[in-house]
Amino acid sequence: MKLTRHLIILLGICLLPASFARAQESAAETPIIDFGSRFLPAVARQGMVVGPERLAAEIGLDMLRRGGNAVDAAVATGFALAVSYPRAGNLGGGGFMLVHLAEDNRQTLIDYRETAPAAATCDLFLNDEGEVDQQRAYFSHKSAGVPGTVAGLVLAQERYGTLPLSEVMAPAIALARDGFEISFALNQEIAARAERLALNAEARKLFLDAEGRVPEVGTVWQQPDLAQTLQQIAKQGRDGFYTGDVAERIVAEMQAGDGLISAADLAGYQAIEREPVRGRFRDFEVISTPPPSSGGIHILQILNILEGYDLQAMGHNSAAYIHHLAEAMKLAYADRSRYLADPDFEPVPVADLIDKAYAERQRALIKPGRATPSSEVAPGEVLVDASHDTTHYTVADRFGNVVSNTYTLNFSFGSHIAVPGTGMLLNNEMADFAANPGQPNPFGLVEGEANSIEGGKRPLSSMSPTMVFRDGKPWLATGSPGGSLIITSVLQTILNAMAFDMNIATAAAEPRVHHQWLPDKLVVEQGISPDTLELLRALGHNVDVAGRTLGRTQSIMLERGYLLGATDTRRPGGHVAGY
Ligand code: DON
Repeated sequence: MKLTRHLIILLGICLLPASFARAQESAAETPIIDFGSRFLPAVARQGMVVGPERLAAEIGLDMLRRGGNAVDAAVATGFALAVSYPRAGNLGGGGFMLVHLAEDNRQTLIDYRETAPAAATCDLFLNDEGEVDQQRAYFSHKSAGVPGTVAGLVLAQERYGTLPLSEVMAPAIALARDGFEISFALNQEIAARAERLALNAEARKLFLDAEGRVPEVGTVWQQPDLAQTLQQIAKQGRDGFYTGDVAERIVAEMQAGDGLISAADLAGYQAIEREPVRGRFRDFEVISTPPPSSGGIHILQILNILEGYDLQAMGHNSAAYIHHLAEAMKLAYADRSRYLADPDFEPVPVADLIDKAYAERQRALIKPGRATPSSEVAPGEVLVDASHDTTHYTVADRFGNVVSNTYTLNFSFGSHIAVPGTGMLLNNEMADFAANPGQPNPFGLVEGEANSIEGGKRPLSSMSPTMVFRDGKPWLATGSPGGSLIITSVLQTILNAMAFDMNIATAAAEPRVHHQWLPDKLVVEQGISPDTLELLRALGHNVDVAGRTLGRTQSIMLERGYLLGATDTRRPGGHVAGY
């Protein structure tokens, strides 16, 4: 009720002339927000969960209402999405969780990225001709890395949650056991992958009806095996997954399907707490994901380069702006191909890559009047001594804690292989390694030897849960799926807010562009004017108007005591839960 009242008040205010609203703002005691746009965020005061699916977001919110903190809510939502959003919510995948802890005023990053099984070698996916065997790399038992999600969520809960794990997991267990009605979005998500899901007997049993059809909207869908798996985790913590019955089932499936994950791989898996990467963009501090994700570094690199321009004077999504943005993106993605990998296996020159002086040298390479062809763009020289589906959700609580979490099975429904008796899909994250260094991966990204396959190593990621701080306080938290598109989607969302003063709903909704160096293509969403595209072509850009959308952010902005939420409208089913 409170939320509805605030919304009505705020909507009313937005309809007032801006000058009147501003006068009110200085005079009135109640904070007044002039959203100044036809896209409005949802508003709450105490707690908020923004995610790709309604039931899981509401489960997270329920934890906040019961007095839990943002980590409790994030862990509850993470387990619930494994039930209600099977294309990307998962137990069998991995990800990154960025946490702001208000009491200590510090941030930490939980890396629960999958690892390569010990038996994996650099030629794992190469056929006799030395080419990548795509079936083996994307859709076989060998595509799966050792899952990290359960270790990551349990570690987050143990170190930073306040409620017992069993309480936090109870709603996900009930959802799997009792079932829920298939939504339009879920029906569409399964339909898009039904053909391949039908190829695996267990996946077919889980996701399709007895006749092999996609369950209709409104059908009640129960997942008893998954309820059982969740129950074991709730009782025994990580051991309920990495040793014992669930682990045995995973290993048995690996043996039956010529996969590589062993009991020792599972028992030895560790989530790792790492320092996030940090940088400044004008008055803002940007905090994001470190290696083995490339995301945070490249977001900071591109911001560093763009900081040298008057972006507002160029105009949002003008040809001049998109030109400079694309040129900076190319430089960053070229660096990605050379320097980025699992830092526990390869030295990654993080500090050099996000250094302002390096950005200045890179900025000097950008020509204002001509696009540099990718063939003329190479990874920069830093001073080194040594040598399609994911999901994101964001949580904020009344104590000031914020969580930004991205996790994935890699493709939608991962490898499309389910482990009998567990209700769980296997990821195909091994495809994020450079199976054949120098050749493009499934996201078209070209990577080098640093990201080649090796037992125990984590494949390079683009996942970028990110937070922006203003005056030392969390101001914006966001993240996105989209493989290589993640970095540029998150970048443009925060830039729209930081450099163009957009409210979070507008920042998320505005058309995006993407360049990843190779292929040499400037991909633009619908909504950039034809004459802007003409100007970009005249500058030499190879413009490609995407027939699809780019990324799907889930964001919260914290402003003047309000939580402002925006679920990206690019895909159906997203939800802002607040109170
Ligand atoms: O870690 C990565 O960068 C990829 N595995 C993410 C995959 C992804 O976002 C697919 N979603 N659309």
